[in-house]
Amino acid sequence: MSLDEIFEHFVLHSQIFKDRERLLPDYVPEELPHRKQQIIALARILAPALAGSRPSNVFIYGLTGTGKTAVTKHVVRKLSEKAQEKVVFAYVNCRQNDTSYRVMAELARELGVKVPFTGLATSEVYKRFAEALDRRGRMMVAVLDEVDHLVKKNGDDVLYFLTRINEQLSRSRLSLIGITNDLKFTEFLDSRVKSSLCEEELVFPPYTAKELEDILQQRAAEAFQDGVLAPEVIPACAAIAAKQNGDCRLALDLLLKAADLAEREGASKVTLEHVKQAQREIEKNVTVDVIKSMPLHVKMVLIAVYLLEKEGARNLTTGMIYNKYMEIAKMLGMDPVTQRRVSDIINELDMAGIVNARVVSLGRYGRTKVIRLSASLKSIEEGLQEDLFMLGVTELVAR
Ligand SMILES: Nc1ncnc2c1ncn2[C@@H]1O[C@H](COP(=O)(O)OP(=O)(O)OP(=O)(O)O)[C@@H](O)[C@H]1O
Ligand SMILES: [Mg+2]
Repeated sequence: MSLDEIFEHFVLHSQIFKDRERLLPDYVPEELPHRKQQIIALARILAPALAGSRPSNVFIYGLTGTGKTAVTKHVVRKLSEKAQEKVVFAYVNCRQNDTSYRVMAELARELGVKVPFTGLATSEVYKRFAEALDRRGRMMVAVLDEVDHLVKKNGDDVLYFLTRINEQLSRSRLSLIGITNDLKFTEFLDSRVKSSLCEEELVFPPYTAKELEDILQQRAAEAFQDGVLAPEVIPACAAIAAKQNGDCRLALDLLLKAADLAEREGASKVTLEHVKQAQREIEKNVTVDVIKSMPLHVKMVLIAVYLLEKEGARNLTTGMIYNKYMEIAKMLGMDPVTQRRVSDIINELDMAGIVNARVVSLGRYGRTKVIRLSASLKSIEEGLQEDLFMLGVTELVAR
């Protein structure tokens, strides 16, 4: 088959999908089952904007994948249809825009003010934004999603400015919706910022397995051809995600990956086996990402464990790992960290589920810690690949 034929085939003859888009993370469905309470609460808080009075600021929090972004976008979309020109809405993702400058530039853009990518003093951007907003003579509702990223990187200056801006406006008003999945986030805030941002609070509890099933059923009805899902598929995806703090994103991701696997195999049905395979892939990807983002010395300790196991060593002790780590450090011409630090690193790797460290009793010789890899070799190799290559130790691993 030519590439064109493959693509054509996918579009025209998918045995599995009716509309694959409906399972993608950014798609906001018309219906959001099990979030009625949060939708109504948020709508009630924001409704005064329609009558020209400033809604309270809202702070929304809940674990990842509990529908915070979806619900907020849904309510804002409905409200902006009603409000038409009366209210200006802005949505900024503060993970993608994680500096004061960029957040303010995004908000200003929503008012039709162009701010260059860099070059202005942040105070100048603040000023231009406030002037533009007042000139508009409108209510503005600004959503700052994943706001913890901004504050951790840049402090709470923006929030301080935005929560007090109404004092300097005469013709306009601003309301804020802050969203985070970091339940400890408010500890980072100045108490004045905190009390104004949290005029109202909305909590999104984790979804239960049953709730996730309902959500998946509804998205599946839009996304799949009739009858292609084996009956165990949705309950399995829901059960796995329910164990991971009720994360709906994970549930959808599993369902989509399972279906993609089935499609790629040319199977006519998505089965439990596809879900299991999808789960393994997702877990592997998470491990790979964790490893890729580790600091160099942590990676070197992991390489030490990896090489020892490859050489057939078992019941690894901290001492053995430290010696191997020293060899690697020497080979790379790096200053090694202390054995104490290596021992801490082993604990960190244990917490991250990459190695398993267990204290065993040696009878009258006391106790010792034995360590082994717990993530799959494949994910470890993939996670370390780039560094090994860069450091020129690929041959070591291949050995
Ligand atoms: N009640 C629901 N009905 C249908 N889909 C939902 C529902 N809740 C969440 N989803 C879907 O699950 C995925 C994750 O939801 P969302 O992005 O809103 O999570 P979040 O709470 O913002 O997570 P994070 O804190 O990681 O940003 C999205 O694809 C969203 O459309
Ligand atoms: Mg979100």
